[in-house]
Amino acid sequence: MAALSDVPVTQPSGSRTTKLAVVGAGAVGSTLAFAALARGSARTIALHDINRSKVEAEVLDLRHGLMFTSQAHVIGSDDVAVCEGADVVVVTAGAKQKPGQTRIDLAEGTIGLMREIMPGLVDVAPHATYLMVTNPVDVVTYAALKISGLPRQQLFGSGTVLDSSRLRVVLAERCGVAVGNVHAYIAGEHGDSEIALWSSASIGGVPLLDWEPVDGGAPIDAAVRAEVHREVVDSAYRIIAGKGATNYAVGLAATRIIEAVLKDERRIMPVSSLLDDYHGISDVCLSVPTLVDRRGVADNVRVPMSDDELAGLRASAESVRAVQKRFGF
Ligand SMILES: NC(=O)c1ccc[n+]([C@@H]2O[C@H](COP(=O)([O-])OP(=O)(O)OC[C@H]3O[C@@H](n4cnc5c(N)ncnc54)[C@H](O)[C@@H]3O)[C@@H](O)[C@H]2O)c1
Repeated sequence: MAALSDVPVTQPSGSRTTKLAVVGAGAVGSTLAFAALARGSARTIALHDINRSKVEAEVLDLRHGLMFTSQAHVIGSDDVAVCEGADVVVVTAGAKQKPGQTRIDLAEGTIGLMREIMPGLVDVAPHATYLMVTNPVDVVTYAALKISGLPRQQLFGSGTVLDSSRLRVVLAERCGVAVGNVHAYIAGEHGDSEIALWSSASIGGVPLLDWEPVDGGAPIDAAVRAEVHREVVDSAYRIIAGKGATNYAVGLAATRIIEAVLKDERRIMPVSSLLDDYHGISDVCLSVPTLVDRRGVADNVRVPMSDDELAGLRASAESVRAVQKRFGF
């Protein structure tokens, strides 16, 4: 394994380069590493997994593409030391959902896993920004914060960044416009109680609630909004039923979050962070539009919400809190 974990994190010139560590080289972790490599997100990409042959194989396969990417090093090991000195650590280790299982069904196993892996990670990468992806991501983020003792800025979850992308894709398809013209967020739990923030959504500068179809596109009335929301909430179940895991879109979503940190972008994204009096909601990790930069979570954005949206967000907070409590947090 030595050859696969030999790491230059500085250039011969002595200048510091960026290092991304990915914990868990399964469907999500390896796809995320591939997305980060293809996009040139970090100079060193380190993979860590307890499954030695798996991590070794993923590293070799990724390395063999280096001729076609920006200059990078890909390293990996079953020893957590491979994550040493990382700028960003992404945690994807954990059991995947089986068909029919909810994300909450994974809670017990993954909380145990966080107790096992977080102390070792913080030992080798105390200054890293931590991005949790393992499900149920909001509960896992809260548990990892408590276990690690890291400040809320430094550790947060990928939350509903993926779900918001799903929402924008479906809306763009229905309206017949480019995905980049749709601004809309899914907030709350990354899971069944998540809500769509319709009242602040817009398409091409037009508030979504005032949208009138263009060029044969569909209207976005209340019935269509309910249908689109259901489609977003059900999409992970549909993908898991068909191929056993979701990996491409989550890999890209996590990579964009990592870049917001490594490139100090100050990008607003619905990551899952520990809320402190957000519309009266505290002491729970939930997704709301949040400013992300080199520090990690810089601030939550106070998006105006309708009464229904606020009630939905509060119900989502209660449902996540109930799971936390069940596991002693
Ligand atoms: N937040 C999101 O948007 C999102 C989206 C998709 C999947 N997920 C979640 O990501 C997680 C991973 O999914 P997957 O499909 O990659 O699963 P997977 O089973 O393919 O991979 C998980 C990997 O974790 C490794 N692992 C287990 N214990 C470990 C430990 N102690 N240290 C290091 N590695 C360890 C396993 O060996 C395995 O390779 C699941 O919890 C899944 O629900 C989250």
